[in-house]
Amino acid sequence: MVDAMELRKRFPALERMVGDHRALYLDGPAGTQVPQSVIDAVANAMVESVSNVGGGFDASRDSDRVVADAREAGADFFDAQPDEIVFGANMTTITFAFSRAVSATWKKGDAIVVSGLDHDANVTPWVRAAQERDVEVRFVEIHEDATLDHSSLEGVLDESVRLVAVTGCSNTFGTMVDVPAVVAAAHADGARVYVDAVHRAPHVRPVATSLGADAIISSAYKFHGPHLGVMRGNPEWLEEIEAVKVRPAPTEVPGRFETGSLPFPLLAGFSASIDHLASLGDPDGTRRERLTTGYDWIRDREDMLGQLFLDTLPDNVAIIGPPTMDGRVSTFAVSVQDVAPDVVARMLADVGIFVWAGHNYAVEPIRRLGYLDTGGLVRIGITHLNTEDEITRLNTVLERIKP
Ligand SMILES: Cc1ncc(COP(=O)(O)O)c(C=O)c1O
Repeated sequence: MVDAMELRKRFPALERMVGDHRALYLDGPAGTQVPQSVIDAVANAMVESVSNVGGGFDASRDSDRVVADAREAGADFFDAQPDEIVFGANMTTITFAFSRAVSATWKKGDAIVVSGLDHDANVTPWVRAAQERDVEVRFVEIHEDATLDHSSLEGVLDESVRLVAVTGCSNTFGTMVDVPAVVAAAHADGARVYVDAVHRAPHVRPVATSLGADAIISSAYKFHGPHLGVMRGNPEWLEEIEAVKVRPAPTEVPGRFETGSLPFPLLAGFSASIDHLASLGDPDGTRRERLTTGYDWIRDREDMLGQLFLDTLPDNVAIIGPPTMDGRVSTFAVSVQDVAPDVVARMLADVGIFVWAGHNYAVEPIRRLGYLDTGGLVRIGITHLNTEDEITRLNTVLERIKP
């Protein structure tokens, strides 16, 4: 059983002070702190793995090993195979490149479906690709509590749909999507499904075998790793897709989707972040098994902290989205009575509490719920690294924020 206070000691960034205040990080949806093990792995790789891959000499073989280890780590993370793992700069960059490659076979008369719940990184790349191919774009709608409207999915699916791009969890409202249900509906009409698990992965492990999607993508900096994007693709789909690449680059999967040299030190940090997550699980068992139990611990702790936040929420603060922990993770979009979101974020920052305000790139849901022209919302991202005392401190400060 992990001791949360001991766990925090692994993270040097948690020592940060803002004046007299200990930093209180509630900005996890935009990036998390890294443990010393990840920092060490990146630094060691800067010593050992700066030669490029594929050479016949010792230092190059070190870099080969770093890449192979990272693919193994990615495979364990997604419950997949190493050659199904594609790395790139970040989720947005991978999605722009992948959408170009996927759309090469789309034609007039085809359609794609994107969602009104998604971060723009899983909307605009697909919409732009569709526009270039004269392909129709349809939206799945959302309910007022920022949950996906599954009945509207039925209305937009038919045999002309080539792809459904949907999030696994809203980065702003914390609402989870029933991905297997979306996949079942899309596959029934022959459409591929691309799942943005960037905000799901810090809270719920994106297990490929249970989600069933054709591709799942995430970003390691959201789960205590370095700034690096990682995608798991269904091998049969990846084989079908021609990558946009330079001629000498690998032709096989997954290398053909990785343009140019990979950031070897960040790959080493990625492997360390997966080891770190696995270290939260039962010590016995394979890394995959430890990831499963580690995530169980994360979920229990975040449910407890999220519930504490809801139970002690002051009257001047309203939750936009589900008012309970059911069907959501511990990311909350809130408004403070008569105070603009950016002002709230600044007042919290003054006392060392880090939150985001605005649309958080979730343009579609923020517009649908009517907050795009009013400065968006305040986002409070609780992670398992937070403590009960921090939640109490947050709510005490929020209660004092008046116009
Ligand atoms: C849900 C979601 N999708 C996509 C992205 C984009 O990720 P990246 O910064 O890796 O491009 C983010 C970033 O905040 C996100 O929260």
